[in-house]
Amino acid sequence: MKIDILTLFPESFAPFKESIISRAQKAGTIEINIINIREFSRDKHKKCDDAPFGGGAGMLMSVQPIFDAVKSVLTNKSKVVFPSPAGKVYNNKMAKELAEFEHLIFICGHYEGIDERLIKIFDAEEISIGDYVLTGGEIPSMVIIDSLLRFVPNVLKDGSLEEESFSNGLLEYPQFTRPQVFEGMRVPEVLLSGNHAEIKKWRKQESLKKTKRNRPDLLKEDRNEN
Ligand code: ADE
Repeated sequence: MKIDILTLFPESFAPFKESIISRAQKAGTIEINIINIREFSRDKHKKCDDAPFGGGAGMLMSVQPIFDAVKSVLTNKSKVVFPSPAGKVYNNKMAKELAEFEHLIFICGHYEGIDERLIKIFDAEEISIGDYVLTGGEIPSMVIIDSLLRFVPNVLKDGSLEEESFSNGLLEYPQFTRPQVFEGMRVPEVLLSGNHAEIKKWRKQESLKKTKRNRPDLLKEDRNEN
């Protein structure tokens, strides 16, 4: 999979130089390019913002630099994503769907957003990572990319996805490691028993308990998002 990220702040993507995502890039499983939108500005001062028609507080991003930046990477296999608080709320199912594309282009918005016509022209998927407003599209892009890459074959070790939260509609069961007693609290006896059937049963019960406590909405019958 190839991902092009269009941004006014390329340095924000330093976290992608770490860990699993860096390894997947080095292995050639994924290719991530960070593209500076400002380089596409035809303004002599490389200006990238403009006032909104109709008035109102703040500025929009200029149309032309974004249009040219997208055009520079767009193919007939591309899906354009525009993270925005006005988008559809992101979930694991959307992450899996995005992971199926060969090429994703992320437009990181700033100021008050982008011209609506850009969304139309590129048929961009507007995605919100939650009901709050961040100062720019870089962090949401990183959230979306990090989570979808986990579904791209060979990015994670086999089996890593199978038991994690949301994979079976429930939150993941509690996990423990050494020591067996920590701050006076013992690891549940069943996990030390070596009885795999009992461990599986315990984990399912604990998954259910945690889901009831933290995310009762996931247990509603009409919900089928995972
Ligand atoms: N940009 C600013 N806030 C956002 C959010 N909640 N989701 C996606 N993009 C955003």
